[in-house]
Amino acid sequence: MKALNSLVKFGAGAVLATVGAFASTNAMAAGGAGCGTYTQADGTAVTLECSKAPIDLTNKGSLQRGAQTFMNYCVGCHSAQYVRHSRLAQDLDIPPELVEKYLMVTTNAIGDHITAGIDPEVQGQWFGAAPPDLSLETRLRGDDWVYTYLLSFYEDPSRPWGANNLVLANAAMPHVLHNMQKSLSKEEYEARVGDLVNFMAWMAEPVRHDRKIYGAFVVLFLLILLIPVYLLNKEFWKDVK
Ligand code: HEC
Repeated sequence: MKALNSLVKFGAGAVLATVGAFASTNAMAAGGAGCGTYTQADGTAVTLECSKAPIDLTNKGSLQRGAQTFMNYCVGCHSAQYVRHSRLAQDLDIPPELVEKYLMVTTNAIGDHITAGIDPEVQGQWFGAAPPDLSLETRLRGDDWVYTYLLSFYEDPSRPWGANNLVLANAAMPHVLHNMQKSLSKEEYEARVGDLVNFMAWMAEPVRHDRKIYGAFVVLFLLILLIPVYLLNKEFWKDVK
């Protein structure tokens, strides 16, 4: 009976551990802590809540729009060194000809990784901080942090580029989406930035959607496996007093 107990406990423990691991990766991907604090003009410190990024890796239209924004507005300075251009065609259902025509800004070979237009090290000397590689950025900071960061630029004449950021104070990055922001309504602009962050989330973990489905199947499998294991255990021990 003791052995049976420990076996059942072990089985339940394994299931719980799997569920726990599954839940914690979700929490990590959700961004965790807030988006920092900033000081208002009157000197009071305000805590900035992260806004929720609209992540949906099954929404190909959103990912395609995000890819377009990323290649047009970000790749001049940032690389995404773990992502090949051909992967955009494959995973986002974009015909390779269109990738070659519109989405390859820093290379002519579709098999190449996404490199920055200008060497980030040289930029480091110009801006005071080198633009980091963005392949894994949403895993490093969380989707919501990146989304909130991109929405938190404000005018600040004291900065070299005339803009500052609430989330990353005195960021060396200019507000590169300024013209886009001016030409769109608030909702449209937030939707465009949402698509962009959705695309960055895909870059950081292309299998994220599938992983969750596999995770659910694994937990289900373990739960079902518990039944024959329990019965087998009963059978093995039935003659042992
Ligand atoms: C003119 C060059 C330039 C362009 C274009 C640019 N960035 Fe940046 N970016 C920078 C620099 C420089 C930094 C480093 C900021 C710092 O640490 O102060 C940065 C930092 C960032 C960070 C924060 C990194 C971190 O974890 O600290 C994110 C996120 C980011 N950029 C996203 C983007 C996205 C998305 C785009 C396209 C819409 C973009 N950037 C376009 C120069 C650029």
